[in-house]
Amino acid sequence: MAEVLAVSLWRGGADGGYEDYSVPRRENQTVLDVVTYVQRNLDPTLAYRFACRVGMCGSCAMTVNGRPRWTCRTKASAAAPDGRLRIAPLENLPIIKDLAADMRLFFEKWQGAKGVFAPSKSRTDAIDRILPETPARRAADAAIECINCGICYAACDTVRWHPDFLGPAALNRAWSLINDERDAGNRERLIAVASRGGCHTCHSHQSCQEQCPVGLNPTASIAGLKRRTLAAYLSGEIKP
Ligand code: SF4
Ligand code: SF4
Ligand code: FES
Repeated sequence: MAEVLAVSLWRGGADGGYEDYSVPRRENQTVLDVVTYVQRNLDPTLAYRFACRVGMCGSCAMTVNGRPRWTCRTKASAAAPDGRLRIAPLENLPIIKDLAADMRLFFEKWQGAKGVFAPSKSRTDAIDRILPETPARRAADAAIECINCGICYAACDTVRWHPDFLGPAALNRAWSLINDERDAGNRERLIAVASRGGCHTCHSHQSCQEQCPVGLNPTASIAGLKRRTLAAYLSGEIKP
């Protein structure tokens, strides 16, 4: 096994390019360790993003050898068995600098999908008890563990073709809230996700589900939204 990794990192903005670095190979090093080595030892001006380093915060996602990945939980040896790593910012988002993508549009689309909890009670009401085994709680649970990493968004060709598509993460979040018994915002949410760029724009080709690092299935959530919005049209809850 070679003692160094041949690492190409994207530098600059959209009009930038790759620059090459040699990084010592270590057992169990992650892709984030590799990027951090470059920033600490070879070029302190390298921009990238991370926070928790343990797969919780979702901030370290980058394109690694052509695939969107959470870099703190991706071993360099698994991503690059031949010792060659090519790392770029997440696709389908503007580049701020180097490996840092601009996530603003991603989170604006969460708002566009009404992916924010709308309370049905005030702070003076008693707190509802939602038992974990109820069907509604299980339905909400299926999509709830999203870490907002943007990997599914970067993997989605429909986002690439239709920039106004809300995308898998925002729609997955909307589905979780639609199944949340405590939420009071479903009519507005259904209107939002049924509109142009909403759930019916999804082509169901499942790249989001294949790449989600925490095993969520946004395709299934979006299929749920398609069924639910159709039922809402037929019942008159929302208008076409
Ligand atoms: S299933 Fe839908 S949201 Fe997921 S990658 Fe395909 S088009 Fe995008
Ligand atoms: S659904 Fe999965 S891939 Fe998409 S943002 Fe959430 S955790 Fe990341
Ligand atoms: S640094 Fe938090 S998920 Fe990778």
